[in-house]
Amino acid sequence: MKILLTGGAGYIGSHTAVELIEAGHELVVIDNLSNSSVKSLRRVEAITQRDIVFHRVNLADLSGVREVFSSESIDAVIHFAGLKSVNTSLRDPIRYYQNNVGSTLILLQVMAEFGVHKLVFSSSATVYGIPQELPVSETAGVGFGITSPYGRSKSMIEQILTDASLAEPKLQIAILRYFNPIGAHVSGRIGEDPRNTPSNLLPYVSQVAIGLRKKVAVYGQQYPTTDGTGVRDYIHVVDLAHGHLRALDHLRSGVSTYNLGTGRGYSVLEVIEAFSRVSGRDIPLEIVAARSGDVAMSFADVEKAKRELAWVAERTLDDACRDVWRWQLQNPRGYDD
Ligand code: NAD
Ligand code: UD1
Repeated sequence: MKILLTGGAGYIGSHTAVELIEAGHELVVIDNLSNSSVKSLRRVEAITQRDIVFHRVNLADLSGVREVFSSESIDAVIHFAGLKSVNTSLRDPIRYYQNNVGSTLILLQVMAEFGVHKLVFSSSATVYGIPQELPVSETAGVGFGITSPYGRSKSMIEQILTDASLAEPKLQIAILRYFNPIGAHVSGRIGEDPRNTPSNLLPYVSQVAIGLRKKVAVYGQQYPTTDGTGVRDYIHVVDLAHGHLRALDHLRSGVSTYNLGTGRGYSVLEVIEAFSRVSGRDIPLEIVAARSGDVAMSFADVEKAKRELAWVAERTLDDACRDVWRWQLQNPRGYDD
C-alpha cells in the first residue's frame, strides 16, 4: 500500500516508518517539523535503503493537504501529527485544539474528497483519565478526570472519528491508545529527541545517565504502589510500530479501538534501577512533590489487541533501556549531532 504518515518525522512516526518500509509499503510523509527534524527521515532512509516522499506541510493548511492527496495516490493514512506536551497545552489550550482537533478535521475532509477510507489514529491512554479499573480495558469509561487540554483533544478526536464513521460506512478506522512509549531503534540511528527539557521519564533518566542533567526528580513516593512511586505500562516503540502494521492489516468498517501496551506496570524507581543497571551508570535521584495531574497507576488490558490483531509486545523494559542508551551514546544531542 501507499501510506500517508502525518507527523511521520516524529518519534513514533519515524520508528513506524522503518517497520512499514520493511514490510514492503511505500511511504509519503506530511510534517511541518514543529517538533522534529527531517534528519529522522533521512536516517530512516539510511536504515531501510529506501526513499520516502516528504512534504513539509502543515496539516491545518487545507490547500497544502489537498495538493499532497492530488499528487499521490494514497491508500491509507496513519495520523501521528499532533502537539503532545501536557504542560504547554495547559498554557495554550486554543493552539492545542486548533492544531490537534482542527487539523484532524481537515485531514478527514480531504480524505473524503479523495475517497480514502482507511485511517489509523494515534490516541493515548490519557483518555482514560483516572482509570476506573486496572488493568484498564478499551470498554472502560473515557473522559473522566482527563487533566489537560492535550488529553481532551485526543478524546474529542476519538469522538469525531466515531461520528464520521457513523455517517460514512466506508470508513475503516483504528484508534490506537498508546500507553507509555519508550525505547529506540536497535541501530541507535533514530530515537526520541526532545527539543526542550524532557517532561517524560525515560528521556530525562537517559540525560542524567550521560551527565547532561544532575539528578532525576521523582514525582512523589506516597502513591498506593509497591514502592510508593507511580506505575506505568512502558512499551517499546518498535513493538508499538508493529502494532500499527497489524492494525492496518485488520482494518474493517467502523471504528475499532485498541490499547497498545505490555499489560505490566513498572514503578519510577524500577525504571531508574533498570536504566542504571543496563547503562552501568549511577543515576542520582531525589524524591520531590507529586506532579499535579498524575495518576498512581496505569497499565493496559492487552487482550483485545492479542485476540483481534494477533499482536503482543515482545520487548522488555531492559531491551528498551539498552536501546535508549545506545541512541543516547551515539547521539548525545539527538539529531543535532
Ligand atoms: P512527536 O512530536 O515526536 O511527533 C509528532 C509529529 O507531528 C512531529 O514531527 C510534529 O512536527 C508533527 N506535527 C505536529 N503538528 C503538526 C501539524 N499541524 N502539521 C504537520 N505536522 C505536525 O510525537 P510522538 O511521540 O511521535 O507522538 C506521535 C503521536 O502519538 C502524537 O499524536 C501523540 O499525541 C501520540 N502519543 C504519543 C505518546 C508518547 O508518549 N510519545 C503517547 C500517547 C500518544
Ligand atoms: C505523560 C502525560 C500523558 C501523555 C504521556 C506521553 C501527564 C500527566 N501525562 O504520561 O498525557 O500521554 O506522558 O507523552 O503529564 N516521572 C518522574 N520524574 C520525571 C518524569 C516523570 O518521577 O522527571 C514519573 C511520573 O510521575 C510518572 C512516570 O514517571 O509516574 C511516567 O511519567 P511520564 O513519562 O511523564 O508519563 P505519564 O505521566 O504516564
